[in-house]
Amino acid sequence: MPVSQHTGEVHESTHDGQPDRRQLRPAEVSLRFANVSMHFPDGTNALTDVSFDVGNGELVAVVGPSGCGKTTLLRVAAGLETPTGGSVAADTSDMGYIFQDATLMDWRTVQGNVELVAELQRIPKAERSVRAASAIASVGLAGFEDHFPDALSGGMKMRVSLARSLIMEPSLFLFDEPFGAVDQITRETLQQELLVLHSQRRFAGLLVTHSVTEAVYLSSRVIVLSPRPGRVLADIEVPLPYPRLPELRFEPGFVELTKRVTHELGSER
Ligand SMILES: Nc1ncnc2c1ncn2[C@@H]1O[C@H](COP(=O)(O)OP(=O)(O)OP(=O)(O)O)[C@@H](O)[C@H]1O
Ligand SMILES: [Mg+2]
Repeated sequence: MPVSQHTGEVHESTHDGQPDRRQLRPAEVSLRFANVSMHFPDGTNALTDVSFDVGNGELVAVVGPSGCGKTTLLRVAAGLETPTGGSVAADTSDMGYIFQDATLMDWRTVQGNVELVAELQRIPKAERSVRAASAIASVGLAGFEDHFPDALSGGMKMRVSLARSLIMEPSLFLFDEPFGAVDQITRETLQQELLVLHSQRRFAGLLVTHSVTEAVYLSSRVIVLSPRPGRVLADIEVPLPYPRLPELRFEPGFVELTKRVTHELGSER
């Protein structure tokens, strides 16, 4: 999925509810939030004036306290919510959304779950099978095609969820705390696998996480949100080269960045 294939066709929803199709600068930006605010009808103010871009092929992490609007931000990016202020520009037809829990269908096998999105997109059966086999192999689950979700570990379920989106080869992924429900060792394995997949496929990613270490380890920028209503407290560059290897977590430059993010996170409590 070369980045240059990104069409630049965007879905843009504005606070007046009028969808607008515009051309983003395709070589640069996959997702753009411009002064996004979200005020729910019950009075909850979830986001205020959030602006930042995710460049093509870039991994950007979002951290912020519970309830500050992180999931809302992803839902707005995916076009599932229309912001009450500002606008978001992204190609929603070329987007993968990885939910916090793997949300697999218990009655479908691994193969059946991975084929689901392709089925909804009416991709013919033969092509679906080929794409599913490739996606399943790329998340390390070859041999488990006929297993049902009940027979999988939490980490394996998350891999299936990833494969289900990978099958459409999106150029932008939204990740909502994808590794929150697994143990630390599995989590670090999955982080490494995500980096390998990213180096192969060069998708852009917006990754919500509670873990400052995970945010810095995976991303090239960390957006720090304030307590609700979430607004951008800091947009911190992570100038550490890829590929990243686990030992990086102990290096002074890495530790310094995690301190900085933690400091920004705590600055409005
Ligand atoms: N549809 C909705 N209607 C009203 N309020 C909502 C709606 N969706 C979310 N909220 C509220 O918006 C705020 C932000 O919710 P959101 O789920 O985005 O937070 P979050 O940062 O993802 O939290 P967590 O880290 O716990 O997952 C919360 O107060 C939540 O109750
Ligand atoms: Mg959330």
